[in-house]
Amino acid sequence: MVQMVSLRYSFVSISMGFLLINGIRAARRWEYEPISVTGISSNDSLISFDTKIVRISRGEFGVSGIVEWNYDTTDKTMMEAVVYRSSSGDESDYKLLPFSVPKQSFYDYLNSYYKEVIMKNLGHCSNVPQFKGKFQPPWPKKTYIAEKCVFKADGLPDIILPGFYKIVFNCTGPNQPSWDFIGIAKIRNKMF
Ligand SMILES: *[C@@H]1O[C@H](CO)[C@@H](O)[C@H](O)[C@H]1NC(C)=O
Ligand SMILES: *[C@@H]1O[C@H](CO)[C@@H](O)[C@H](O)[C@H]1NC(C)=O
Repeated sequence: MVQMVSLRYSFVSISMGFLLINGIRAARRWEYEPISVTGISSNDSLISFDTKIVRISRGEFGVSGIVEWNYDTTDKTMMEAVVYRSSSGDESDYKLLPFSVPKQSFYDYLNSYYKEVIMKNLGHCSNVPQFKGKFQPPWPKKTYIAEKCVFKADGLPDIILPGFYKIVFNCTGPNQPSWDFIGIAKIRNKMF
């Protein structure tokens, strides 16, 4: 159970694209290459994304980007994420995996996945809100900036089936824009 949870958290983090190839844990049999991080908004004047993968050093990648958040969330704002895998990388080949962030209110998401994964990984390299205890609305409307954020791939299993993994976050609300954030990474077996 504990392992399932951390696995799920890890995929969520990957999805956000704080991606890293590292050899810190000798037991890990895989490495990954981030392919893309993309935000899609139903209304760019309410929320817009400009994110990209940046090379930090040989074999090490992070994510930099700007998110212009310009609308008010409410307790009706909903958030969810699903994960897909494709062996070829072809769009038509992606199949849903049993890892997800179940659909929940944005504020519940902030108190769980966001706090456990996003805040921990993005706190030091961006200006995303950080809080102790329970999140107190409002979620600030502002320009969020991330600079070379690298995901510490803690909690992932030592063996992962090679292939392309895609995570899709989706956020919607009544009379609000809807947006997706999509991260794709390629996982392969490590060569020794
Ligand atoms: C986007 O949101 C702005 C501000 O609320 C609004 O004026 C505009 O009509 C919206 N555009 C679309 C395409 O819905
Ligand atoms: C997010 O999901 C909702 C409901 O499932 C859907 O209507 C909406 O189009 C999605 N948003 C985007 C940007 O794809």
